[in-house]
Amino acid sequence: MKRELAIEFARVTEAAALAAHKWVGRGDKEAADQAAVDAMRTMLNKIHINGEIVIGEGEIDEAPMLYIGEKVGLRKDLDIAVDIAVDPVEGTRMTAQGQGNALAVMAIGNKDSFLKAPDMYMEKLIVGPDARGAIDLNLPLLDNVTNVAKALDKSLDELVMVILDKPRHHKVIKDLQQMGVRIFAIPDGDVAGSILTAIIDSDADMLYGIGGAPEGVISAAVIKALGGDMQARLKLRNEVKGISLENDKISNFEKSRCEEMGIDISNVFTIDDLVKDDEVIFAATGITDGDLLTGVSRKKNIARTQTLLIRGKTKTIRYINSVHNLDFKDEDLKGLIK
Ligand code: FBP
Repeated sequence: MKRELAIEFARVTEAAALAAHKWVGRGDKEAADQAAVDAMRTMLNKIHINGEIVIGEGEIDEAPMLYIGEKVGLRKDLDIAVDIAVDPVEGTRMTAQGQGNALAVMAIGNKDSFLKAPDMYMEKLIVGPDARGAIDLNLPLLDNVTNVAKALDKSLDELVMVILDKPRHHKVIKDLQQMGVRIFAIPDGDVAGSILTAIIDSDADMLYGIGGAPEGVISAAVIKALGGDMQARLKLRNEVKGISLENDKISNFEKSRCEEMGIDISNVFTIDDLVKDDEVIFAATGITDGDLLTGVSRKKNIARTQTLLIRGKTKTIRYINSVHNLDFKDEDLKGLIK
């Protein structure tokens, strides 16, 4: 993939973040997501790529735009074929409630780079480059923690674990704290949490927990680009949220989707199963201020964004601070972000 494309992808997440920012604190998750989807799609369709959405807003019948299988880009004869994983608003609740850590994110890879996972839950275990090879989801979590500490040459009480602060994790959080591990419990947004394990300017050593599978594949893309490690296992709704008629119905649907897609639910996926190719590009722009990025700030027609742009091939990490004059944006984008 040509390196010049990377900056084009940063412009896509910038536009999505600017559009979502209009909805920060307005209590409307759907409107924030729709605004970001529209902006992301508008920008993707200006790029010289022959793109296909492989992780997106859902199936065609439930998502009018950026659905799985949607073709995007200018799609000229010589344009490169790429697969794209998008999450226009990672943290819809945080955006709607004006809380920190919401991002617009996207990962791009060569054709067939990403695991095409259904939209269900996924158990994730993630570490940065220094603990690569030290994780095994088939072992108990406490063994993994010990092995990662050994690989990092740390004692357990020096180890920092990021985990979603959800009731399903409360027992594990307590057990880990009793072992001496420090816990960073984040209310939402495990893509940002994953990245924190693999960038140098963060204290986080590992991430464990059950979150969304689409977010899991996007996390795998950035972890692969940064040289870290990840293992994951799909989880049925009734394994995560408890047995009930509604959850059983969803779980049966998830099972049949996995069968159709040729995915073995009991499989432990390695980083190379999740993302097959090193030549992946990852872009994320902050919507609200967070541990990873500064969110959008605006004064009248001037807006500032901060974007993290990573090229897997060279492992270069760029933080791009942009100042946008919204009066001078393309007409089709202006309506979405002003
Ligand atoms: P959304 O932006 O789709 O709301 O996702 C936020 C998130 O916290 C993800 O980061 C995480 O993977 C998932 O939700 C966890 O799901 P749940 O909120 O059902 O526990």
